[in-house]
Amino acid sequence: MNAQKAPLSQAQLAQAKVLVVGDVMLDRYWYGAVDRISPEAPVPVVRITREENRLGGCANVAFNAVSVGAQASLLSVVGDDEASHLLQDLIAKSGITPYFGRDAQLKTTVKLRIIGRQQQLLRLDFENTPQNEVLSSQTQQFMQLLPDHPVVLFSDYGKGGLAHVTDMIAAARKAKKAVLIDPKGSDFSRYAGATCITPNRAELQQVVGGWNSEEELSTKAHNLRQKLKLDAVLLTRSEEGMTLFDARGAAHIAAQAREVFDVTGAGDTVIATLAALVAAGMSLREAMPWANRAGGVVVGKFGTATVSYEELFA
Ligand SMILES: Nc1ncnc2c1ncn2[C@@H]1O[C@H](COP(=O)(O)OP(=O)(O)OP(=O)(O)O)[C@@H](O)[C@H]1O
Ligand SMILES: [Mg+2]
Repeated sequence: MNAQKAPLSQAQLAQAKVLVVGDVMLDRYWYGAVDRISPEAPVPVVRITREENRLGGCANVAFNAVSVGAQASLLSVVGDDEASHLLQDLIAKSGITPYFGRDAQLKTTVKLRIIGRQQQLLRLDFENTPQNEVLSSQTQQFMQLLPDHPVVLFSDYGKGGLAHVTDMIAAARKAKKAVLIDPKGSDFSRYAGATCITPNRAELQQVVGGWNSEEELSTKAHNLRQKLKLDAVLLTRSEEGMTLFDARGAAHIAAQAREVFDVTGAGDTVIATLAALVAAGMSLREAMPWANRAGGVVVGKFGTATVSYEELFA
């Protein structure tokens, strides 16, 4: 891989458009000093000194597509609260083109970490399920955006934003678009007809059960592929790299990371890179080693969960 030259130029990739649909989140980090135990309860008092906000959920996926040099539109539903405005500010700086539906009843999904003495003391999650009417208008918006995007990427975080995913897949496939999905949950039938799903090991296991050999895995993956009428299943396997199961069989590629610092978000980077390269005209088989490489780069970084064009194709 290292000796291989870039399969496409930065200018070509800059023309590639990915439509990302799913659940957006705001990742918040509050850092502070811990000087004493609370007089009210046996818990530390954290005096907040610094705050950091990051794009999370499918906004992080879209950010990865933009970071590697492609264009990303982001279709999602948010509330009308502080978090949604913080998200909008971050998106405005990111290069992502947002299409946000607003649901005033909705609490924008936030994961707030409280960090004191270099460790996470608590995580607070704020979320609720978006309303059906807002999601229906999102489907209309989706239909309008579809013609301009060769690749649709659904990033399912199980927060309810993809209630109409099956209809959107059908419309996209009818329009001859590639549909890539990062799945969640125990019911994959809702992804039927997609081009490719990218479960990790635990996500695949939840749906097809465990496997004791590569042979058994292959049988199970191909059965799932046929049952759901998918072109391919891309199993991401953390330190084992990834395996693509498609009509030609199975293609495996070993993990690339030299040193591992932070594995969170590697799956987002993988599917975003895959989508960007497919949107630029590559096949899944051609794009897969580069997506694997992107995953390997990102786990070697602390904090920043994105990979640039230069880093990927250096
Ligand atoms: N420990 C690791 N060592 C080397 N490469 C890794 C490691 N973890 C992840 N990767 C790379 O990142 C890819 C995706 O990782 P993984 O299968 O863990 O996805 P994931 O569980 O969906 O991640 P997340 O949901 O946290 O974003 C792997 O296929 C591999 O290329
Ligand atoms: Mg994942």
